Amino acid sequence: MANKKFYVTTPIFYPTAEPHIGTAYTVIAADILARWNSIQNKDVFFLTGTDENAKKVFQAAQERRIPIKEFVDKLSQDFKEAWKKLNISYNRFIRTTDKDHEKTVQNLLNITYKKGDIYLGKYEGYYCIACEAYYTEKDLINGCCPTHQTKAELIKEESYFFKLSKYQKKLLDLYKKNPEFIQPASKKQEIINRVKKELRDLSISRKDYGWGIKLPFDKTHCVYVWYDALTNYYTATREKGKEKYWPADVHLVGKDILWFHSVIWPAILFSVGIKLPKTVYAHGWWTFNNEKISKSRGKVINVDELISIAGVDSARYFLFRETPFGEDGDFSTEALINRHNNELANKLGNLISRVSTLAETHGLKKTQNKLIKKLKIKEIQNYIDNYQFDKALSEIFAFIDKCNLFIQDKKPWENATKNKSEILYELADSIKAIAILLYPFTPQTSEKIAKQFHFNITFKEISKPLTISKIKKSEILFRKIDIKNKTEEKNKKDNINKSSLSSRIEGIAAMNTINYNEWEKLDLRVGQIIKVEDIEGADKLYKLEIDLGKQLGKRTVCAGIKQHYKKDQLKNKKVIIFANLAPRMIKGIESKGMLLAAVNENESKIILISPEKDIELGSKIR
Ligand code: MSP
Repeated sequence: MANKKFYVTTPIFYPTAEPHIGTAYTVIAADILARWNSIQNKDVFFLTGTDENAKKVFQAAQERRIPIKEFVDKLSQDFKEAWKKLNISYNRFIRTTDKDHEKTVQNLLNITYKKGDIYLGKYEGYYCIACEAYYTEKDLINGCCPTHQTKAELIKEESYFFKLSKYQKKLLDLYKKNPEFIQPASKKQEIINRVKKELRDLSISRKDYGWGIKLPFDKTHCVYVWYDALTNYYTATREKGKEKYWPADVHLVGKDILWFHSVIWPAILFSVGIKLPKTVYAHGWWTFNNEKISKSRGKVINVDELISIAGVDSARYFLFRETPFGEDGDFSTEALINRHNNELANKLGNLISRVSTLAETHGLKKTQNKLIKKLKIKEIQNYIDNYQFDKALSEIFAFIDKCNLFIQDKKPWENATKNKSEILYELADSIKAIAILLYPFTPQTSEKIAKQFHFNITFKEISKPLTISKIKKSEILFRKIDIKNKTEEKNKKDNINKSSLSSRIEGIAAMNTINYNEWEKLDLRVGQIIKVEDIEGADKLYKLEIDLGKQLGKRTVCAGIKQHYKKDQLKNKKVIIFANLAPRMIKGIESKGMLLAAVNENESKIILISPEKDIELGSKIR
């Protein structure tokens, strides 16, 4: 009999910035489900990718002055690399610029068009580029998008519309007949209420602006990015041999995009006559130290940072142990380290270490494993199948506690203890079950344990008695982390970054965290130092007079470079100055600007940046 299939998807990510903890969250969740189903011998297909045809992606490339294709190629690669570091076992990484995707989108549009579900009209309303979504005036708060608090763009243009309103009843029936379609249940009612209240037709095209998939029946328009993006889930199953995976078993999404997946997507599929996915599951959002994750405010933790705290498996474990999947969670380095130390190192790590050390000396002897009866396998299975990952982990760790109590109680290290090898067999066989159940969450660790205790990672193997083999003392699986050192180290790093940021090279160093409009506000000019004076009572500062050419004239700047330059090294030196900063009083002198300089990490070296060739004073830096 053919294996049962399991098809899981993540949202496809806008390649506008590198992936962070929020985007990694769904991808790890999908990986957990993919690995969980594959150890049950299911034929798994796991899809992720990038959503490249969005206007915001186009704008991000323009702001950085990088050709759009080059930009999306680079960023989609960054996503792939990040997922590799997190051990994500996806089967396809789809990009909406892939040729087969373009073809599928156009095919679906043609079917809907021929059916009479698409008509030409005029769109008048608002658009938020950050969410790539349409709003009416009454949706906005002071003219701003309710989610992003940024000004929504007023659009008045010819557009093709999809008859979304026509599917209102069918959608309501769907939710009623298939209670598992929108999950968790807590998020369902809001969608139902909105669909009941009003379902307006959806504008699905924009006048072509040079980026995006063209409408097959009107090449002067390109497809609305959400129509394009949602279709990716179906595209991936149009490849030869992949048809069997449709419909998807679950689309995992963040709560902010549930509407698109549970209303627009099924309506598109209704119109085309394609089967619907079984479930759309909306997870909660992570905040960072109780603040919204925001790149511009430095409240972001990217994948490298996440992994560097306590390793990949600890990060994966933490994200799913800390908070129920459907609810919001708060991330902090301390909380992650605490779980790493107290649960992974103290409980799991110690158990493996003690059992393997004793098994190396005393060996194992087969016996009936009574200890494993305390493992609630059915419950754990049920929890994972129902996205209750925190509960599953909690149950697995309750069993680890029982194993630790068992070893403590039986004392197989004492000379007087009888049946040492049998006690150790019960423990080793239980460790097998633990490692297999943990595999979706901590794959690297489980693989190490499996190698050491000689078993295969499949669900069936849990109920097969462990084969006796030679076991060697294990390496340390989780090294405890000194939370104080780690946080001090991190704060120090943050402070160094902050101080060098806020001083000389603010504009450049912050390129990645401020947007282009903000960067453009800086006025950088070429100047020449014409006078250098000491300032009484200041051993780090010079008072400089700088000539900025005919138009801008001369001005005074206080600069903290005394320990790095002698006066005669500065005299007549050409420099670059931040010319439009608000004046600041320093030691009673009004300082008007800052010098551009390169600074090493601990600020022991400061080198002023000078233009390499001669250029008129006052020239702009671009
Ligand atoms: N491109 C669309 C999805 C199209 S799917 C057909 C998109 N992309 S996104 O890059 O903006 O966001 C992708 C996912 O990341 C969303 O599911 C969103 O909820 C999730 N997250 C972004 N920040 C997050 C947190 N801070 N916490 C948890 N998830 C977060 O939307």
